Amino acid sequence: MDNLDGSILRAFLDAEGGAVSGDDLAGQLGVSRVAIWARLARLRREGLTLEAAPRKGYRLVATPPRAHPALLEAHLRRLGCRLPCEVLGEVDSTNSEAERRLAKGAEAPFAVLARRQTAGRGRLGRAWQSDRDGNLYLSLAFRPFLPLERLGPFTVWMGLAVCEHLAEAHGASLGLKWPNDLLDADGRKVAGMLTEARVDADAVRDLVFGLGLNLEGPGADWPAELRRKAGGLRPVARGPVDPSAAAAGVIAALERAWERFEEGRFSADFRKQASRWDCLRGKPVRVTLRGKPLSGVAEGIEDDGALRLRLAGGKVMRVASGEVTLREPAT
Ligand code: BTN
Repeated sequence: MDNLDGSILRAFLDAEGGAVSGDDLAGQLGVSRVAIWARLARLRREGLTLEAAPRKGYRLVATPPRAHPALLEAHLRRLGCRLPCEVLGEVDSTNSEAERRLAKGAEAPFAVLARRQTAGRGRLGRAWQSDRDGNLYLSLAFRPFLPLERLGPFTVWMGLAVCEHLAEAHGASLGLKWPNDLLDADGRKVAGMLTEARVDADAVRDLVFGLGLNLEGPGADWPAELRRKAGGLRPVARGPVDPSAAAAGVIAALERAWERFEEGRFSADFRKQASRWDCLRGKPVRVTLRGKPLSGVAEGIEDDGALRLRLAGGKVMRVASGEVTLREPAT
């Protein structure tokens, strides 16, 4: 994809469903009308429906069911997001790809999105089902040079930014289940986050934030266990969800969240948003801490990203990392 496709699609997005003249496009973009027609023909072959509007030009009436590189780029630029984002057909894991690119010296920050992953991974060495087209698998890569102790609230902060954005842009009310899950109101997992970092002498050098966001609910061919537990954005969104637009919106929100995190300008909002989106607060939970189970009531997320847990005897403890499951309340 070059910038011309992105600029053409940007003009269609700006027209908001209205007609765009091929002649005007050629003039604005400094290319021939023939070049514009050739690009429009190619975009059609790639799944965009560009309808001819007699004497007016063309209208963008439908977009492809999976993330399209130039359309994603056009949405990103329209949102004022400068982050470069490459869309890959298939990759082992976008986190691994981002790590490889950072290791090779790629300029950061950047984003990598894949339509499918052959070895998508989650926390604690689990696999992340991602062989199906149509969901979002994406990673953002940073080279922060951040003291390690500042990394504590990072994943939660990014997750809160995603909750806030999905509510605003799609009317989807998800909750953050500490530390890395986004759940719908029925407790189904809609998204998972995986942060991976390379640390040198107590400073975070390479940082990769991965997000797997299900657009659809689970497929009929998914394992029964996952079908029960997995949700999607579409079932809880207030309108249609276009994958390119949705990906761009999430990337732009994450870029803004990252900038505030890096500059250390996030604490007040962290508290506000954590109290809004933390779906464990006040709930009885079981936490597995280094293999040891603990039961208590979740009392919120601390400024450093730790979970505040009130144990049965009344003692309060901070859990910096662990695995949480909701318990049935005692009757
Ligand atoms: C989890 O729930 O344990 C985290 C899942 C994170 C999945 C995403 S998909 C994009 C990125 N690439 C990966 O291999 N994993 C993350």
